[in-house]
Amino acid sequence: MKNIVILISGGGSNMAAIVKSAQREGWREKFNARITAVISNKADAKGLIFAHERGIATMVLDHKAFASRDEFDGALAGLIERFDQPDEPVLVVLAGFMRILTPAFVARYTGRLVNIHPSLLPAFTGLHTHQRAIDAGCKFAGATVHQVTAELDHGEILAQAVVPVLPDDTADTLAARVLTQEHIIYPRAIADLLQKK
Ligand code: GAR
Repeated sequence: MKNIVILISGGGSNMAAIVKSAQREGWREKFNARITAVISNKADAKGLIFAHERGIATMVLDHKAFASRDEFDGALAGLIERFDQPDEPVLVVLAGFMRILTPAFVARYTGRLVNIHPSLLPAFTGLHTHQRAIDAGCKFAGATVHQVTAELDHGEILAQAVVPVLPDDTADTLAARVLTQEHIIYPRAIADLLQKK
């Protein structure tokens, strides 16, 4: 059985969408895969409650307890290692995980580490994507699911969704419109990856 570990930092709505899709579509039977653990770098991440209620193991690894990025990422890899099997490599899914990962961590999970970013990459890497799209006068915005590489918000694009930017949009209204699409494309992109393997 392939293990999927989801990393979150907050609301966890993408994680919840993935969990619901996995249950609705029967990923266990279909892909021999299950969402085994949800790890948050914040103890108060709301998503942890949802995961716990669904019977998924939850863990908190507070980045503030570590002196360096390397140490935090090393400890994170140590947690994930429990779910990594030689014949069934773990799939690591970043879902609103607001940490920049070290090249060593990324290298360890190359090809099995995916992220969702709230912009139409390669436009607007980094933070405040919705405000920056509005400020730039974009008529369309969206979200991108991509493989994670050492360069922030780069890597092979696996899926994208496009939404209009409306004249009276704020960063919040645009973010909400994009998020509804994230909930559709992220589970689908993961299912496609599982299907291929
Ligand atoms: C999502 O919009 C996701 O694309 C974004 O954070 C939000 C998390 O929402 N991720 C990033 O900005 C990563 N750089 P969620 O916790 O409800 O899934």
